Amino acid sequence: MRETGRPLTVDTVPALTLPTARVGPSYTEGVREFLAEGRGGPDDHSLFRNLIREAGRPDDTPAWLERALAFERRLITDPPADFVPSTTYWWTEGDTYLGRINLRHRLNEQLSDIGGHIGYDVRPTARRRGHATAMLAAVLPLAADLGIDKALITCDTENTASRKVIEANGGVLEDERGGRLRFWVPTAP
Ligand SMILES: CC(C)(COP(=O)(O)OP(=O)(O)OC[C@H]1O[C@@H](n2cnc3c(N)ncnc32)[C@H](O)[C@@H]1OP(=O)(O)O)[C@@H](O)C(=O)NCCC(=O)NCCS
Repeated sequence: MRETGRPLTVDTVPALTLPTARVGPSYTEGVREFLAEGRGGPDDHSLFRNLIREAGRPDDTPAWLERALAFERRLITDPPADFVPSTTYWWTEGDTYLGRINLRHRLNEQLSDIGGHIGYDVRPTARRRGHATAMLAAVLPLAADLGIDKALITCDTENTASRKVIEANGGVLEDERGGRLRFWVPTAP
């Protein structure tokens, strides 16, 4: 037992998991946190915006969660127009949702220029605890499994946190394009 009295199991160590209803209530809270910080609006061109467009705003019904999970799963085989196939993993601790990381299976022109192979978000209430750094480290071997030797990862020039996450994982800066820094990150040590 840990000092908290909570049994120490594999489940209490943060890990990647495919989207699952088991984490549904906590995921729904996380989505609300992203919405509260202004994500999902017309200026948001990310997959999160597409999620809200397709599933609607979270309303605590099983139907909303079903739509959200279906959206996440369809990204692999039937992505929205202009998106390449990708896999979303959730970063979870037990049944608590901490963040998400999206691994694109290949680059297209826009991703080669600006978007990169991997995008991630940590829910606002779980930030500054090392989760993004650990989550990226965990997904790099999965990128290697897809045949990606070096992952392109980009961040806004002023996004210090994301830059640190990329550099902590071995990212090497190539250049800046359109206000974004472009790094190559080896996927195998
Ligand atoms: C960027 C983001 C993913 C970082 O997540 P996180 O879990 O807080 O990151 P970590 O805890 O692993 O922190 C990594 C480093 O950034 C630093 N950091 C975290 N938040 C920071 C902030 N707001 N300002 C400055 N530095 C920050 C941490 O102190 C840590 O630095 P260290 O390695 O020197 O200790 C998170 O802030 C987020 O989801 N932001 C919104 C979406 C986004 O920007 N995604 C990335 C798109 S490229």
